[in-house]
Amino acid sequence: MGCCQYFDASAEGGADSFTVEMPRVTFGRGTRHEAGPRARDRGIRRAALFTDPMLADSAFVADVRASLRAAGVDVAVFAEVRIEPSDRSVVEAIAFLDDGDFDGVVSVGGGSVMDTAKAAMVYAHHPAEFTTYFAAPAGDGVAIPGPVLPHIACPTTSGTGSEMTGLAVIRLVDLGTKFVLASRFILPDEAIIDPAAIETLPSEVVAASGFDLLSHALETYTARAYTRWPKTAAPSARPMIQGANPWSDLSAREALRLAGRYLERGVRDAGDREAHDNLSWAASLAGMAFGNCGTHLPHAFSYAVTHLVRDFRMAHYPSAESPFVPHGVSVIVNAPSVYRFTAAAAPERHLEAAGFLGADLRDATPDDAGEIVAGHIVRMMRATHIPNGLGGVGFTADDADALAASALRQRRAIGNAPCAVSADDAAQIFASAMRYW
Ligand SMILES: [Fe+2]
Repeated sequence: MGCCQYFDASAEGGADSFTVEMPRVTFGRGTRHEAGPRARDRGIRRAALFTDPMLADSAFVADVRASLRAAGVDVAVFAEVRIEPSDRSVVEAIAFLDDGDFDGVVSVGGGSVMDTAKAAMVYAHHPAEFTTYFAAPAGDGVAIPGPVLPHIACPTTSGTGSEMTGLAVIRLVDLGTKFVLASRFILPDEAIIDPAAIETLPSEVVAASGFDLLSHALETYTARAYTRWPKTAAPSARPMIQGANPWSDLSAREALRLAGRYLERGVRDAGDREAHDNLSWAASLAGMAFGNCGTHLPHAFSYAVTHLVRDFRMAHYPSAESPFVPHGVSVIVNAPSVYRFTAAAAPERHLEAAGFLGADLRDATPDDAGEIVAGHIVRMMRATHIPNGLGGVGFTADDADALAASALRQRRAIGNAPCAVSADDAAQIFASAMRYW
């Protein structure tokens, strides 16, 4: 069933090929100690190690540093990464790279750390006005012209998947919103995923990052098929946000199964190693999936949520500069309403995805698809104490038009939805996302 949509006669005239981009992947407990030998084997002699102020003194970062030093790799640490990085915060990281005579980068942290490292390398090596390499309407849409430094990415959360993608999400301060920088040149060369990193995370972080990974996989599986995007003129112009394809299906499917089985367990029990190992692997699988497909409405809409949030603070969430909605929360509070809207365009895909997550599909018909997906997500949100929709993070129905106007600037992600979305549709989806229970 999964591949049929790619060979549908109605897609004639669309793209007829897709590209898969992947770093070398090393997964397992203890692999943080491989950072040094792997950097040395790539010819790195002096590495810039990116991390954030909360992790800088952690045992995990100390282990990575020790591994690099033992392998003869000189290390300088940049620990000033801000949560939700912006064009302004990345400037400090660019200056750090400019001054350091580095021949490689090691990033140790969550999405903010890895994305800061990616963006800083771009502008350190290919200087330009900051918006140059962002797609319209945020920027000029100029392709990043060439390679940057070798990059070894070591994630410390189980959600972002940034270690697997040629994407970096950066807030452009003048526009107030996050936008995506995309290029195969910012795909890390290596991903070292050590699940021991997430053992020390508070349950709120495991929950938020778990819903981020779940949504990466679910958006990928229900995205517009690549064959329904236009053909690209040149192979090098094929975007990374290319639509759903057999490769992204493969990893999204397994990420959904693992998220369905382990997300609640991982949130509930800080000592559940089996759950945390599987969530780490699921996050990287989901990264493989959306890094070669692109997300769609829940992520596009999440950027409007973080843009327009007023005074919400997530209880027990560390490192939050207020106001702040954790990324995974900003995504999932929109998701049930989105799938109620998109399911009619691809009901079999929505039903399959719900089944992978563990929903009961007995007697389900295509007309039930949106409600089944939405109902299952809502059940998981309630079980893990996620805020109750947009109302739970401080919005009211009066905000729906402004949220829609902000979200619609994310053109490529909006275009990656399985159906067209008008401004009225977007406002209606936001209005219906205010409260789920
Ligand atoms: Fe995400």
